[in-house]
Formats: sequence, structure tokens, C-alpha cells
Amino acid sequence: MNRDFIAKYWYAYIYEQCENQTHDVEFLLNVLRAETDGSPQKILEVACGGGRICIPLAEAGYTVTGFDANEYMLLRCYRRMKGMNNITCYVTDALTSDWGTGFDVVVLAGNLLINLETGMDYARAQQILIRKAALALKPGGHLYLDFDLHYDPVRIFNQMGERSYFSGTDDLGTSGRTVSYGSVYDPVTRICTGTRHWELKTNNGESFVAFTEQWHKYIPTQEQVYSWLREAGLIIERTYKNYTDEPIPEPLDESMHRATIWAKRG
Ligand SMILES: C[S@@+](CC[C@H](N)C(=O)[O-])C[C@H]1O[C@@H](n2cnc3c(N)ncnc32)[C@H](O)[C@@H]1O
Repeated sequence: MNRDFIAKYWYAYIYEQCENQTHDVEFLLNVLRAETDGSPQKILEVACGGGRICIPLAEAGYTVTGFDANEYMLLRCYRRMKGMNNITCYVTDALTSDWGTGFDVVVLAGNLLINLETGMDYARAQQILIRKAALALKPGGHLYLDFDLHYDPVRIFNQMGERSYFSGTDDLGTSGRTVSYGSVYDPVTRICTGTRHWELKTNNGESFVAFTEQWHKYIPTQEQVYSWLREAGLIIERTYKNYTDEPIPEPLDESMHRATIWAKRG
């Protein structure tokens, strides 16, 4: 078996097992219940991955479309939607594809802004994502945006030392862990750079290292995100701090780490 396949299949499986540190899915379902009038909602989840968010949305009765650039992730979503007639998913790149129109809600969650994979200028790509979300909404529809927003990014993103975020064994018997060796954040460019690899063992005991890479992420400011929303014709109706009903404080306070925004297409 090709190691690239083994590694990507393993990551898609392990991501789903390990990405459970917050109650972000339950929070989204609560916001939808509170902010929509109980009428059927047609929802688009951009970069839906393995369906961690879009499957519960479909289970809650919404009509859901999801897409993602990663077929290994999407395969998990496709498996989970078996027998459900109110969800579809497909593979495409968020920045180069047409998302369609007429959605009641577009969901950009799972910290997609910061985890966006692109060869483009990163801040520009984040801005385009918000613009495309607005275009996919029907007038009066809403964007649900959930992203990392820290009071002091220098403290959060300057990290040294070895860490493993995800580890475990998939259903093919591949085991392993992701390993990071820290990251460095430049407060002027707002670019965070880190290095990582995955240490894996195949189901017949062969060890190998995959995805040795240096990664870069652009950490947007609150002002940038708010200006991109304005420029896209989206009006902020509600903000939520750290998955609570408290609004995002202005200016940000030290406890701030995660922002959720509910914005209406005017
Ligand atoms: C952190 S995961 C979040 C997945 C899912 N939304 C969740 O919360 O579980 C980020 C996802 O974004 C997808 N992604 C990143 N860049 C993308 C792009 N340019 N187009 C489409 N999908 C992208 C990745 O393949 C990955 O599945």
C-alpha cells in the first residue's frame, strides 16, 4: 500500500477521534435554534472535512451541503451520511470553486480561516473566503464564522518544545502520532511558522515518517475580519466569546481565545 494513502487515511480517522476539545458543534446547533425561526434552513458548510459538523446539522433536520478539498476527510463524511437524504458532499477547493447560491446559512467553522490551505497570499485568501460566503447566501441569509481570536497572539503562538496533538490507531491498524516542534509568531507580518511531521507504523509493523513540513498560518486581527465582513456586505448581528452567550468584548480581554460571529447578508 502506498504510504501517502496510509498516512492521509490515518490522519482523517484520527482527526475525527481527537478533535473534541470544545463543544463547538453543540454551540452551533444552539445558535441556529435561537437565531432562526424554526423554518427549514438550507446550510452550506465550507471545508466540512469528515462531517464532524455537517452530519449533526443534517441529523438535526437541516438540508446540508458540504465540500472539502481533502478526499480522505470527505470519505469519512460520505460514510456517515449513508441513508440520509438531506445531505450531500463533494470535493473541491474553496478558493477556486463556485459555491452555488441561495443558502440560508453558510458555516465557516472548525477554525477554517486559520487552517485554510492555499498557495495564495494568506490574508487575501481569508478575505476571499468571506466574500464567497456572502455571495452564496440569499439576501437576509446568515454567515456563521468561528475562528481563533486571541488577546495576545505573541504569547499563544510563540511555543517551543515537542508536542503531539493527535495520536491513535485507525481502523486499518495504522498507528502513530503527529509531532510538532513549536512555532514562532511574527507580530508585524502576523505570520506564524511551525514545523511538524507524523510518526506512523503500518499494520504489519513498518515505521515511517510522513508529512515532514514547515507550515505557515496568517493570524488575522479582529479589525481585519470585521472589515472583510463589512466589505462583503455582511452585517454583524451577534458575537459570542469562547462559545458562550457573552459578546466579544471590545477591546478584547485576556480571556478571549475563540470568536463566533453571526452576520446577515444585507
Ligand atoms: C481543521 S479541518 C476542519 C474540518 C471540519 N470543518 C471540522 O470542523 O471538523 C480543516 C478542513 O479544511 C479543509 N480545507 C483547507 N483548505 C481548504 C481549501 N482551500 N478548500 C477546501 N477545503 C479546505 C481541510 O481539508 C480540512 O478538512
